[in-house]
Amino acid sequence: MDILKKIQSYREEEESLKWEGTFAEYLEMVKERPYLAQSAHSRVYNMIKHSGIEEENGKFNYKFFDNEIFGLEESMERLVEEYFHPAAKRLDVRKRILLLMGPVSGGKSTLVTLLKRGLERFSHTDEGAVYAIKGCPMHEEPLHLIPHHLREDFHDEYGIRVEGNLSPLNMMRLEKEYGSRIEDVIIERIFFSEDKRVGIGTFSPSDPKSQDIADLTGSIDFSTIAEFGSESDPRAYRFDGELNKANRGIMEFQEMLKCDEKFLWHLLSLTQEGNFKAGRFALISADEMIIAHTNESEYRSFIANKKNEALHSRMIVMPVPYNLRVAEEERIYEKMINQSDIKDVHIAPHTLKVAAMFTILTRLKETTKNNIDLLKKMRLYDGQTVEGFSDVDIEELKNEHHDEGMSGIDPRYVINRISSTIIKKEMTSINALDVLRSLKDGLSSHASISKEDRERYLNFISTARKEYDEIAKKEVQKAFVYSYEESAKTLMDNYLDNVEAYCNKAKLRDPLTGEELNPDEKLMRSIEEQIGISENAKKAFREEILIRISAYARKGKKFDYSSHERLREAIQKKLFADLKDVVKITTSTKTPDEQQLKKVNEVVATLIDEYGYNSTSANELLRYVGSLLNR
Ligand SMILES: Nc1ncnc2c1ncn2[C@@H]1O[C@H](COP(=O)(O)OP(=O)(O)O)[C@@H](O)[C@H]1O
Ligand SMILES: [Mg+2]
Repeated sequence: MDILKKIQSYREEEESLKWEGTFAEYLEMVKERPYLAQSAHSRVYNMIKHSGIEEENGKFNYKFFDNEIFGLEESMERLVEEYFHPAAKRLDVRKRILLLMGPVSGGKSTLVTLLKRGLERFSHTDEGAVYAIKGCPMHEEPLHLIPHHLREDFHDEYGIRVEGNLSPLNMMRLEKEYGSRIEDVIIERIFFSEDKRVGIGTFSPSDPKSQDIADLTGSIDFSTIAEFGSESDPRAYRFDGELNKANRGIMEFQEMLKCDEKFLWHLLSLTQEGNFKAGRFALISADEMIIAHTNESEYRSFIANKKNEALHSRMIVMPVPYNLRVAEEERIYEKMINQSDIKDVHIAPHTLKVAAMFTILTRLKETTKNNIDLLKKMRLYDGQTVEGFSDVDIEELKNEHHDEGMSGIDPRYVINRISSTIIKKEMTSINALDVLRSLKDGLSSHASISKEDRERYLNFISTARKEYDEIAKKEVQKAFVYSYEESAKTLMDNYLDNVEAYCNKAKLRDPLTGEELNPDEKLMRSIEEQIGISENAKKAFREEILIRISAYARKGKKFDYSSHERLREAIQKKLFADLKDVVKITTSTKTPDEQQLKKVNEVVATLIDEYGYNSTSANELLRYVGSLLNR
């Protein structure tokens, strides 16, 4: 479908969803579909629920955030279960301002934007449909038309509680335009849109001296006072502040604590009482979710000030820390790169992973648990298996520091470093070493890093570099083995046959000659030595493997190459050791002979075809590994 057709069909869809009718007709619909009268908080929660919820081991994953917010499942779960969900049920938390608190570039704005865009889409669905008094600048809830003295009866008949007062403007319109006939008031379906200022608002603090409360609550329209005769005529007032426009939906309050106090008090009244003061009118009822955000240092200085106690007690603070998982951090970078103008540059495999390792290390806090250094902790958080540690240990680690993830390097810094390097050097291809170098160079000019942290961060650069060295060597060695998985499997089967014969004091049979053979001690030792198993320990190791195999067999599981972490490592190292000289010589000769050249070309082709390199990055990798092996 071409774009013009899509535009047309979108317009047609919107056209077909439109609805307009009298209040009497609207009530008929509400009777059938009471959810049309839901509150803004309930609409937000239902929108999230609508995308699906997955449960795994008692933990909830809200699909609404998938593919946009990475690595923050626990924070999102807390946000939904401690705020959105109870607020939707009209519990008391909804009367508090939701304040997202987290480090810079940790995804707070992204999260709020996601909710806003989601709500825009949701208002186009049946479950998320919203209706309002037609012609009202605040898209007022139609049920406000029901007079107070009849609301109890309305509840008995419809099961719906109406909150809030009809606004002064609609009160006047009801009288003047409809002759007080409530049932005739025209109601229409509305569609949330930040661009059109319907149901979605944003407020960001500017210079406190010049910032006008009108930005929030609207202002008198002096040009029409003459026409209507008085400042207190609601028709002479423009209900066009962010609080007015966001009615029924969400208002984002950016960097809230940078704002002057007087703005905050308006919000408080709105969240607490469901109304706010505008101009000379009685309080105006509004129903909207206010989501504010701030960083930790501003939050700390805010609560340190005694004067703010009352305000503070009426906020609910939800931490939005940095992601702490390497794989998720990579996804964040991928997303950011895809949205940038460097998206066409080739990024060698493992580049973003290595950058992410560095970043995550800067965010982690040391543990007092034995035998866990930051690198191990990083692996455990990332979900990798580390021998001797289980999920219980991970939970314990996570509970050790409550402010973990509140500091460290942010994703934007990484992406900025990568792009500026690419642009400055006019690169078409970038690898892990380029990125580490650029991250390192940037540290000295990074304004908000203390000298102490800089030292630590430099160490993390070398840690990440060492990790990369291992990854690079493995990658090249793998590409050298004609069929890596096949060779590893053959070698392991061979080893296991020998171990079995050794433990059972049996002989092996030569498959070709049928001749009886003793177990091949030399072969077994050459593998075991790779992981430091001594002559004295070999028997126990071999027996342990046999026990593992029979345990697998009992459960009907197949014991294979990946069933035993240490054995796998031994096999891999053995394969690489056999290859080492070939790799070393081939990758480092300045004048390769014909056969070496052929091998190099083959390896480059494998790297390109199977591992995602391009010819520049593959050749760079070979050269680098050559230099590593010759050290
Ligand atoms: N956990 C995360 N998941 C997805 N993207 C993230 C995450 N953390 C940061 N980002 C990305 O980093 C950038 C900065 O995030 P932003 O939402 O502006 O942060 P904040 O408002 O907290 O300062 C954005 O491009 C955002 O997509
Ligand atoms: Mg932000």
